[in-house]
Amino acid sequence: MSNPYTPLPSTTVLHDGRQMTLRRLGSDDANALLHFGEQLPQDDWLYLENDLRAVDVVKRLTNAHGADHWRQIVACEGTTIAAYASVRMLTGRSSHVANVQLIVGEAWRRNGLGRVMGQVVFAEAQHLHASKVVAEMLEAQRSGQAIFARLGFRIEGTLRGHARDRFGNRHNVVVMATLLN
Ligand SMILES: CC(C)(COP(=O)(O)OP(=O)(O)OC[C@H]1O[C@@H](n2cnc3c(N)ncnc32)[C@H](O)[C@@H]1OP(=O)(O)O)[C@@H](O)C(=O)NCCC(=O)NCCS
Repeated sequence: MSNPYTPLPSTTVLHDGRQMTLRRLGSDDANALLHFGEQLPQDDWLYLENDLRAVDVVKRLTNAHGADHWRQIVACEGTTIAAYASVRMLTGRSSHVANVQLIVGEAWRRNGLGRVMGQVVFAEAQHLHASKVVAEMLEAQRSGQAIFARLGFRIEGTLRGHARDRFGNRHNVVVMATLLN
């Protein structure tokens, strides 16, 4: 599915009227990103690659803002980060594959921000010349699957019991992917 490249920064208005600015993560975003991480629901941490509550992790991410193979985008309401997305090219035999992550803060969910961020991060993957884009999420994460299905992704596989929550319950993870020309 084609998705024209949208230059950043850009703005978008959520279903409830809130205005958001979408831009690249910058080197001075560490405090705002940490604050975003601290506000996320506890269970989100079980399913995410990067723990945005950890100072060293956040420092690594903000320091990587200029990396060739990695794009990180935030949606902001004023100075507050409301969503974070990243696309990173894999290495070695999968160096043509981009891995996408997307997380919207609880206070901004169900308002169309995930969809917009998904479009932006997918466009960034195309801009990085990825020929395959992959996203992993919980099987139960229907809105995440809806976002990526709209972008042409299909489920390639299910990793059974691959995520474990804080109560010790295991959850299936689906791998969604799309091939690009
Ligand atoms: C997944 C996530 C990014 C969605 O963000 P969001 O801002 O709430 O998403 P949106 O409001 O744009 O909704 C996206 C789509 O899901 C649909 N949707 C929302 N809730 C749904 C539900 N319970 N069941 C099915 N579809 C649902 C919406 O209608 C919308 O579809 P549309 O674009 O066809 O109208 C957010 O819940 C999140 O950050 N979850 C934790 C991290 C995660 O699991 N990320 C997954 C991708 S790596």
